[in-house]
Amino acid sequence: MEIVVSGTRPTGILHLGNYYGAVRNYVRLGEDKNVKGYFFIADYHSLTTHNNPAELKVLVKQTIATYLACGLDPEKVVIYVQSDLPQIPELYLLMNMLAYKGELEKVATFKDKIKIHKENINAGLLTYPVLMAADIIIHRAHKVPVGKDQEQHLEMTRNFAKRFNSRYEVDFFPEPIAYNFGDELVKVPGLDGSTKMSKTGGETNAIFLNEEPESIRKKIMRAKSDGGPTTMNQEKPQEIINLFELMKIVSTPDTLAFFDNAYNNCVIRYGDMKKQLAEDMVNYLTPIRTRINELINNEAYLQRVVSRGAEEARESAAKTISEVRKIMGISYF
Ligand code: ADP
Ligand code: TRP
Repeated sequence: MEIVVSGTRPTGILHLGNYYGAVRNYVRLGEDKNVKGYFFIADYHSLTTHNNPAELKVLVKQTIATYLACGLDPEKVVIYVQSDLPQIPELYLLMNMLAYKGELEKVATFKDKIKIHKENINAGLLTYPVLMAADIIIHRAHKVPVGKDQEQHLEMTRNFAKRFNSRYEVDFFPEPIAYNFGDELVKVPGLDGSTKMSKTGGETNAIFLNEEPESIRKKIMRAKSDGGPTTMNQEKPQEIINLFELMKIVSTPDTLAFFDNAYNNCVIRYGDMKKQLAEDMVNYLTPIRTRINELINNEAYLQRVVSRGAEEARESAAKTISEVRKIMGISYF
């Protein structure tokens, strides 16, 4: 059996980037009979940057509903909340003894985040990759479906796993890889000309999975573009690359080719392109939005899913922790 683990921080409603870069791959891997999938809500990780208890409650429920709405099937995969597994913080503590301050300070996401949160450079933020490694190796995972921004965290996870194996002279933890069905990890761009759609990128950057059609249309019509090409086959600026990238996700290859040709021949009308993109986006997201709205008020069902999931995930986690304790000598009598 191949073990697959991944998670998302409940720091906002999931957007197209989360779906296309990560959750869609959870679903596809979960359909594979040779895969045991563990998919969780990384609530501890969200505490490194967010600390509003009322908001957390809402966002955790929303994220569970979104996982289900995107097609994750609790009959096929294990869905749980990170903080329901006490074995994760235990493994995190043990792995902290193998992680060096120097390597943690060099992590790109840490450097980015301390620029944004100058007033809150906490130890949790520094050791974020250690907790993430614990999430993954607690089930001794092989594959981790994530977007491109998580590549470095996976490299750290492999380093910690290798270090544990070599320090204790065991072959216990596999070295997990970041995974996507295409060959490459993906990064869905924002509508504001930035290269990454993000939960924290502001209203004009992201299209959220529960967003109403009218709002999607408005956002796309207002997306950043330029004055249009002036010479044939001109290179596209970033904001135009972004519109084409988004179109590649939600539109047919014919539609994409049509607008690409129009661009190369300098006859493109961005208004028409955006209208088409908006309609295709609405069609792409409508089934997910409808399901989220159906599920979000069914709290009893959401709770049932994650309490059953936690039970199963704890079983797997407890096995790993008991082995790790033995390997490290934490068993005295
Ligand atoms: P965000 O960066 O918006 O806060 P998270 O960090 O919680 O989102 O990411 C959850 C998952 O979604 C991760 O696997 C991440 O790699 C993926 N992801 C986030 N944004 C994008 C994007 N723009 N394109 C592709 N994947 C993404
Ligand atoms: N760091 C991931 C993100 O920002 C979330 C995450 C936490 C995660 N633990 C994980 C992803 C374990 C995959 C596996 O998106």
